[in-house]
Amino acid sequence: MLYEKLDGFKEDFLWGSASAAYQVEGAHDVDGKGPSIWDEYVKVPGNTFKNTNGNVAVDHYNRYKEDVKLMADMGLKAYRFSISWTRIFPRGRGEVNEEGLKFYDNLINELIRHNIEPIITIYHWDLPQALQDLYKGWESREIIGDFNNYCITLYKRFGDRVKYWVTLNEQNIFIGLGYRLALHPPKVRNFKRMIQANHIASLANAKAIKSFREYVKDGKIGPSFALSPNYAYSCKPKDVLAMENAEEINVNWWLDVYCRGEYPKAAFRYMERIGLEPIIEEGDMELLKEGAPDFMGVNYYQTTTVEMNPLEGGVDDSGTFNTTGKKGTSRDTGIPGVFKTIKNPNLEATNWDWEIDPEGLRIGMRRITSRYNLPILITENGLGEYDKLENGEIHDEYRIEYLKKHIEACKEAINDGVDLIGYCTWSFTDLLSWLNGYQKRYGFVYIDRDENDEKEMKRYKKDSFYWYKKVIETNGEEL
Ligand code: BG6
Repeated sequence: MLYEKLDGFKEDFLWGSASAAYQVEGAHDVDGKGPSIWDEYVKVPGNTFKNTNGNVAVDHYNRYKEDVKLMADMGLKAYRFSISWTRIFPRGRGEVNEEGLKFYDNLINELIRHNIEPIITIYHWDLPQALQDLYKGWESREIIGDFNNYCITLYKRFGDRVKYWVTLNEQNIFIGLGYRLALHPPKVRNFKRMIQANHIASLANAKAIKSFREYVKDGKIGPSFALSPNYAYSCKPKDVLAMENAEEINVNWWLDVYCRGEYPKAAFRYMERIGLEPIIEEGDMELLKEGAPDFMGVNYYQTTTVEMNPLEGGVDDSGTFNTTGKKGTSRDTGIPGVFKTIKNPNLEATNWDWEIDPEGLRIGMRRITSRYNLPILITENGLGEYDKLENGEIHDEYRIEYLKKHIEACKEAINDGVDLIGYCTWSFTDLLSWLNGYQKRYGFVYIDRDENDEKEMKRYKKDSFYWYKKVIETNGEEL
């Protein structure tokens, strides 16, 4: 729908920005913190771009006051950050590390002191290595109890001050890349193991939400999903069917489980026929139904365009990711007989081949609204690009353009009836990109470090910083 006039954002709209512990904190082995799977994974040469790691990251652990001050200068209304499980339980279970809890206490209090709403992500990929060693992490049902215990510890400690909580960040990515594409720890390439680990992660998510109801009475909780709405490459019915297949397998496989407590029919039938369906034990489906979220967290960067993929000789999941920033180096991926990806000729892409598509955000949010009728919190959206520091300034007009278009799409979605409660950009400061090092920057605040040299990590406000400040001041009226 095209409108002549648009209604604006709600008065209490959460204009925010986000980060994740491993990508910003550093201090990987201080104050009792135990090792996570990422602390170990980055030690193997070739696993990350130029073998970068988060040992120091952007030193947020030591500079959080300076960073919160910058957020306050901007007028930020909400800050989404994640908690490192191994700061709280160095071995994933057992004794609590008080020093870890204290760090987050301090961060939360600092945010509140500056009128910034804290949004906690409980799990942003840094699983305790001890649990990986003990029972293979997400592949064992034992993790459901350990994760629940970790969550309850956080609810009890921070539930009095923190209203918004995200359970798992991008389960579809950490499970998909960890167990099917072998790009994240534990670097497994096995579809069957992926489906099973994913089922266990969904149960852990549901159980954590169930517990939340007991401990944080006025809070709101939901998982964050990496949403990439699918388009059909053409109006050929076979391509449209490929799109339906991709939606079922890459989107509804997660969202239906979160929001309805059931697997989508066609996708489940397909998994059964190829012998990959998850093992469902007694009580699983009841638990999934009991763990419905209050909102859907949406991380949005791009859409996916697909076409029919032949059964014989079709493209498989061995496609490559562009982790170098050399445009045009990613390769298509797919499932023979189901769908394959194809470049969308109508969209521009970033230097990392992520197709820029603000309209896709509106489309994705509308699909969620129609299917589940839940409020949405955009927990990530942003542009990863090379930035240049020149005389203390960073002119990132391309980022402003990107964000502006996406915020416009949000406004349109609200006018379509989407109940959008907030918008967090990725990211507040520059940070470590898991597979792409430090050269792919997302922040409003430039951090002067690179892959080769940590330098002094001085913070500089980019042009986008001042622009977003204005957006917040005018509640999204001036873009
Ligand atoms: C999301 C993650 O997948 O996208 C973030 O939640 C991540 O942690 C972000 O950094 C951007 O991805 P990338 O690969 O460009 O760093």
